[in-house]
Amino acid sequence: MTKYQFPKGFWWGSAASGPQTEGRLPNDGKGDSIWDEWFKESSERFFNQVGPEKTSQFLTKYKEDIQLMKATGHTSYRTSIQWSRLIPEGTGAVNQKAVTFYNAVIDELLANDIEPFINLFHFDMPMKLQEKGGWLNRETVEAYVVFAETCFKLFGDRVKKWFTHNEPIVPVEGGYLYDFHYPNHINMKEAVQVGYHENLASAMAIKAYHELDLGGEIGIILNLTPSYPRDAKNAADVKAANYADLFFNRSFLDPAIKGEFPIELVEVIGELGMLPEIKDEDLELIKENTIDLLGINYYQPRRIKAKESAIDHTNGPMPDDYFDNYEMPGRKMNPYRGWEIYEKGIYDILTNVRENYGNIRCYISENGMGVEGEEQYIDEQGVIQDDYRIEFVKDHLKYVFQAIQEGSNVQGYHMWTCMDNWSWMNAYKNRYGFIAVDLDQDGKRTIKKSGHWFKTVSDLNGFED
Ligand code: BG6
Repeated sequence: MTKYQFPKGFWWGSAASGPQTEGRLPNDGKGDSIWDEWFKESSERFFNQVGPEKTSQFLTKYKEDIQLMKATGHTSYRTSIQWSRLIPEGTGAVNQKAVTFYNAVIDELLANDIEPFINLFHFDMPMKLQEKGGWLNRETVEAYVVFAETCFKLFGDRVKKWFTHNEPIVPVEGGYLYDFHYPNHINMKEAVQVGYHENLASAMAIKAYHELDLGGEIGIILNLTPSYPRDAKNAADVKAANYADLFFNRSFLDPAIKGEFPIELVEVIGELGMLPEIKDEDLELIKENTIDLLGINYYQPRRIKAKESAIDHTNGPMPDDYFDNYEMPGRKMNPYRGWEIYEKGIYDILTNVRENYGNIRCYISENGMGVEGEEQYIDEQGVIQDDYRIEFVKDHLKYVFQAIQEGSNVQGYHMWTCMDNWSWMNAYKNRYGFIAVDLDQDGKRTIKKSGHWFKTVSDLNGFED
């Protein structure tokens, strides 16, 4: 027994996504996603102008990579099926090369006792659908359900953990509010419609999955960012934090688990005259098709104070009209990513899920630390001595452990990420992996100290201090 001994069968692994790891090959049949298109249009917006085709070559190196997963103690691994690889136009013909590839990955994982967790949408809208509005267009919802059903039918005999979306609030924020995803609009009315359609698409995919009766589970992966008021005794700060929670967490958490949108959120959007277009039967569909399993991504808290700065009317209403972000003095930072490190946040989320969301089965689906310039920590054996990452994971796991002691229904922990991968606009700036990828040596892989450490944690199902 170790000091922090996790429940038997706890899932140890990591998460990644198709667009961030696979890469492209000539004649692989993949269609463009919004990332391929955006990079073509504006490569200067990507760190060192490294684009999505230069990802970690999982497409060709998956067998080697799965051996490395084994060597780092993985019992499960999450990736996503790229919609634009499987159905290159977004609708219509299925790319048989993609079917062969995903089948091979799934079979290889299972042959190595690593359970595949498969996500369906990880920010990667097929370009053909984006041209017609992407998530703004209800036809995309219908197309997504066909994509989801296709995946369930092709791979559902072996894949027993499915997820409809990864961080669905992020395409809303990035694409329609804060200009860090294509199509780079800043328009809250559109943002609301996009978020609504993602919620609807999730419920419809859950319905389709359950109807197929394949004997697995389906959920959603949300980045739950607890909103802490500057001063918990200041009513205005608390109110502002509540708004941030409604916009960025509860907009997906409530419909996913409770089947309804929070009434206060509906009220505030209604006051702005921005309620989405819905069809009569939608709300009932959302009500009746909630998740089996919740994935929780946690990186950083959100610190909030009452609105003090002038409202910026340039782009019409924005969520930020209701709160200001607050830089808490003395906060612990990851300077590379500019994110606060607050380990207790993971415990607060799990407590909230336990107390207010029926203690649904959940797991930590992402947590991690992106660091720039890790080459400086390479020792004589060529291994990155990333003790900071080990400390980061340990400190979070201690809080997961505490939540379990208090009754939280948390089933596992996945690190972001397995091997260094392509991080959207940040490309390869910050490295997150248990395994280093050397882009100058054809993507050569080397397990970092944290990867070796994680193997012992998985083997022992826990760790000492
Ligand atoms: C999560 C995403 O938000 O965080 C990943 O699910 C992403 O796709 C990861 O790569 C790290 O964030 P970033 O912005 O540093 O890549």
